[in-house]
Amino acid sequence: MSANQPESIVGGKSYTAVAINCAAKAGEWIKSKMGSITQLDTKYSMHDLVTEVDKGAERMIRNLIGTHFPEHSFLGEEGVEPGPEASAKALQDLSEAEYLWIVDPVDGTTNYVHGFPFYSVSIALAHRGQVIVGVVYDPSRDELFVAERGKGAYVHGRKMQVSSEGALNQSLLATGFPADQHVALPANMKGIQALAPKVRNLRIAGSAALHLAYVASGRLSGFWEYNLNAWDIAAGSLLVEESGGRMSDITGSTYDLAVRNVTASNGLIHEELLEELHSAANT
Ligand code: IPD
Ligand code: CA
Ligand code: CA
Repeated sequence: MSANQPESIVGGKSYTAVAINCAAKAGEWIKSKMGSITQLDTKYSMHDLVTEVDKGAERMIRNLIGTHFPEHSFLGEEGVEPGPEASAKALQDLSEAEYLWIVDPVDGTTNYVHGFPFYSVSIALAHRGQVIVGVVYDPSRDELFVAERGKGAYVHGRKMQVSSEGALNQSLLATGFPADQHVALPANMKGIQALAPKVRNLRIAGSAALHLAYVASGRLSGFWEYNLNAWDIAAGSLLVEESGGRMSDITGSTYDLAVRNVTASNGLIHEELLEELHSAANT
């Protein structure tokens, strides 16, 4: 962190320490509840699930953050009405916030409900719209991915580095099947159809935040998805950037919190990936 960036110690606890603590505590609780869910509801569409665990985990994180930093603002998935318009508006309403915590308590709820062990807790802190802390925790593998702006990104205390593939034909990419079936899903299907024959392989594992953590750690060469929310991307974006990767929107514009159509990569394949997605979108 540079000299003119905010002091990250308040009341003896750094922002990053609080983010890690929240992710670890919530993650442990989420994992302990696996297989014993009593409330399963749908939100925006039949693909968009929510359980009492999503809501309970968000409450837990919100309370913990509020205890340490009562003056900070909070944006969590479960506190926002379902659907892309409501998400975009909730973010817009908080655009003046000095410190904004952006939280997805369970990213990959469908996996969680089915017992497929690929889901995460995603916690970011933005200072005047710029992400300064990003934590993604995978309870199934007990992997904690942490980044602080200007200080690098780490997993298990090891510094992360994006992968070195220089071309799509050597790359392992990931994407997602978005909940919005009308615009985002068809758009993503075009990208999948165009890219599948041109890359080493594709993965669609069901947690955008973890996909981004995997780009950061070099396990994936790149990732793209349409119509994600700030809480899916914010923490992972800093992991990618601090690991030497590149974040942008799907047209190549600089990433910011309002970006919903996202592209992440090791940097080396970024332009090629954007070109393929651009020509797929125009087919
Ligand atoms: C979902 C996951 C999934 C992505 C969906 C997201 P949720 O988040 O990130 O990978 O494909 O678009 O909505 O609903 O499990 O928090
Ligand atoms: Ca999510
Ligand atoms: Ca979620």
